[in-house]
Amino acid sequence: MDQTPLHLPRHRWLVIGLFFAVGWLCLGFDRNVAAGQAPQPTPTIDRLATPAMPLSPQPADYGRQVYYLNCMPCHGDVGQGLTDEWRNVWEEDHRNCWASGCHGGRAGDEGFPVPRTIPAVIGAPPVLGNFQTSEELFEYLKQTHPPQRPGVLSDTDYHNVTALLWQDSGRTDPEPTLSPTPTPAPAAHPAPTESAPAAPASLWPLVVGLILIAGITLVAITRRGRSVT
Ligand code: HEC
Repeated sequence: MDQTPLHLPRHRWLVIGLFFAVGWLCLGFDRNVAAGQAPQPTPTIDRLATPAMPLSPQPADYGRQVYYLNCMPCHGDVGQGLTDEWRNVWEEDHRNCWASGCHGGRAGDEGFPVPRTIPAVIGAPPVLGNFQTSEELFEYLKQTHPPQRPGVLSDTDYHNVTALLWQDSGRTDPEPTLSPTPTPAPAAHPAPTESAPAAPASLWPLVVGLILIAGITLVAITRRGRSVT
């Protein structure tokens, strides 16, 4: 019984080495999954996609949803207005807003007439230059927008969409005139994603141990097999 694993034939070592290598690979994969790295969402370039909602949304984040649903077709995905570039994002048969049967305002057109020029509503001055405060903007929107049915949104929606336009245009009020919208209280420790890898990390020793045990067993079996023959 003076035979040590060191005297195993080379191919046996190869098998054992391979065994460990596969083990480590699996471990690495496991860690990536645990850390939430594996299911990475592919970056979307779909400009018509629903805006994502952050974990603890602010009024402007709710406003982004309101904007997406009620304002984007006319004012563009980034508030640029109804530019030719924006119209070309749409499917081909939706690009001419003023075609007969669309929003041309002619007899037989199904939609309400839409003006040829629709201004930008997010951006540096002169964008939103007609408004001194966000409250003015709020009142304007509530009185006039959306043009096809003014006042149809809730006050909260008007507030939130106002917050979005105001904030994304880099505007601030002399004094806060917008009453804060009740938002869900932010969690005391909003780090659910960070705590996730902790548990799998503690599994490490177990997995390493299992691989080691399996490796040693393999060696033992190989040795016994040789000493029997
Ligand atoms: C049907 C197309 C349409 C929709 C939908 C629409 N708007 Fe407008 N919007 C217009 C037009 C046209 C004007 C220009 C009106 C005018 O000059 O009197 C305008 C003007 C504005 C202005 C004033 C810009 C300025 O500088 O005077 C703001 C702000 C605005 N819209 C925001 C919104 C928001 C927010 C929504 C969604 C709740 C929205 N719009 C939905 C067509 C639209």
